[in-house]
Amino acid sequence: MSLIKILAVESSCDDTSVAIVENGRKILACETFSQIEKHKVFGGVVPEIASRNHIESMVLLVKKVLKNSELELKNIDSLAVTYGPGLVGSLLVGVNFVKGLSLATGLSVVPVHHIKAHVASLYLTYPELKPPFLCLLVSGGHTYILEISDYDKIKIISKTRDDSVGEVFDKIGRTLNLEHPGGVHLDKISEFGNIQNLALPVPLKSEDTYDFSFSGLKTAMINIINNLKQKQVIFKTEDLAVTFREHVINYLISNFVEFAQKNNYTKLAIAGGVSANLLLRRKLTQICLDNNWEFFMPRLELCGDNAAMVGSQAFYEYKKNNFADLNLNAIASDFL
Ligand code: KG4
Ligand code: ZN
Repeated sequence: MSLIKILAVESSCDDTSVAIVENGRKILACETFSQIEKHKVFGGVVPEIASRNHIESMVLLVKKVLKNSELELKNIDSLAVTYGPGLVGSLLVGVNFVKGLSLATGLSVVPVHHIKAHVASLYLTYPELKPPFLCLLVSGGHTYILEISDYDKIKIISKTRDDSVGEVFDKIGRTLNLEHPGGVHLDKISEFGNIQNLALPVPLKSEDTYDFSFSGLKTAMINIINNLKQKQVIFKTEDLAVTFREHVINYLISNFVEFAQKNNYTKLAIAGGVSANLLLRRKLTQICLDNNWEFFMPRLELCGDNAAMVGSQAFYEYKKNNFADLNLNAIASDFL
């Protein structure tokens, strides 16, 4: 079979990204326009601004990846696009752009689920990696333990019952007056802090479930910070950050590792924006080494939203003839 080249588009949140990926494993070109600077002043992503920026940069990015890869549209075998979950206005820009391009070129469209795309960032990082494996999927919108039984077969083992871990890191970052996105900066300054003794709860920990809950933990941390501010206690931001990071990462890891141990998994992975977290990466690398387990984590530049991972997942969907027709719509709400 000749090599399949897929031109993929990602616009589910605030990153506009276009990539060309060969046979699901080789990035021929990938260009991402991060809108962080545009949203920073508002302390979070403003959906309306995100959609407008996707529209402005999409065509430019397509031209750029074609130029960088020295390819033309006629060399492309299929298009692919993230159709959900995400911000509906943002998703619609990508979905409609790709439908238009399909009409103009006659190319097929592979619809890609955002979570499956995050998992595929691992296939780009490890060309030899194949399912099955157990994956901790942590991002701005999701927190899951997933069993990846095949490229297009994902079983949910557990998930968060309220906030996602990324959301909570961002909120605490903001409460500590860090720049948007809070999670990224909280992780960075944590490297310079000393762990303190704070009364943080360990939520929803029982024999019966591997589900997560973060809202109580978030509220407890906000109360601690506000109390310190009110009493005008002088504290080091990096000390509070590192204490919170340690607590959250230990909580995430304990559920993940306990499930793996009890169910004899020996191939573990992480994916999603929060998989860039330095402590999560360090701790799981060590734990997997100690247990003689294989461990996979995306290259740092592939942890956040990007179209290369969409192009990777799309290859496996393409092989199964999973194509969308021109009625393809964006799906904002959570589904898997
Ligand atoms: O996957 P992603 O780029 O977008 C969604 O699908 O949501 O994830 C973004 C999330 C944000 O909450 C961001 O703060 C968080 O990932 N994040 C981090 C780190 N890098 C990104 N959280 C903790 N530590 C990091 N190093
Ligand atoms: Zn994402």
